[in-house]
Amino acid sequence: MLTLGVNIDHIATIRQARRTIEPDPVAAAFLAELGGADGITVHLREDRRHIQDRDVEILRQTVRTHLNLEMAPTEEMIEIALRIKPDYVTLVPEKREEVTTEGGLDLLSNLDYFAQVVDRLQSSGIPVSWFIDAQEDQIKAAAQTNALFIELHTGKYAEAHDEKSRQQELSFLNQGTQQAKQLGLRVNAGHGLTYWNVYPIACIAGIEELNIGHTIISRAVLVGMERAVREMKLAMQKPQNQENSRK
Ligand code: PXP
Repeated sequence: MLTLGVNIDHIATIRQARRTIEPDPVAAAFLAELGGADGITVHLREDRRHIQDRDVEILRQTVRTHLNLEMAPTEEMIEIALRIKPDYVTLVPEKREEVTTEGGLDLLSNLDYFAQVVDRLQSSGIPVSWFIDAQEDQIKAAAQTNALFIELHTGKYAEAHDEKSRQQELSFLNQGTQQAKQLGLRVNAGHGLTYWNVYPIACIAGIEELNIGHTIISRAVLVGMERAVREMKLAMQKPQNQENSRK
């Protein structure tokens, strides 16, 4: 059955905008699980722009489903993963100046190093997933590193400007999934998926998990707005009146 990993990075983005303690991604993860999330995903970036080390440490103890740690394949991050032991890691390219992850990792750029990274993590019991584009050579390279998973980058599909290119990207993702399965890889997918474009991706046979963040956090902010304002109006009243209006 297709599962949903909820990426809660942008809860931390809101918190970091004020460098305060709210909203706490730990609370968001708990509520996401109550809502049916099958897993929780966080991206610990080198610049710590949203998720902090403290978040990952506490989530490791509190997440009841599975914790997917997204990170760049750098020495600093590998050491953190080996210490915290998430249920799996998704290795992504990372550029300081980017707003979000811009595309899949180019595994061919340093295949020997990437194979060593997989070996270090997987021999410590942490399955590895490579975030890559649905390209034949990248999928082959992922299998050569002995990683257990890939996550196919759905960003180009999500950003396609017309139906023809959307169908083209969908077909690359479908073919990529089948190629990966034949090579013994397990397949996840994500990036840029929304309530409006998710269904055709959810229909691709062989994909196990979708990692979705921005659209869910965006909706959570809006569907909670009315209640949040109502609660502030209550908080502004004298305690005596608050009691009355609760009755
Ligand atoms: N998968 C990967 C590898 C990502 O880097 C991200 C963004 O952090 C996502 C999935 C989720 O993307 P979105 O926030 O667009 O749903």
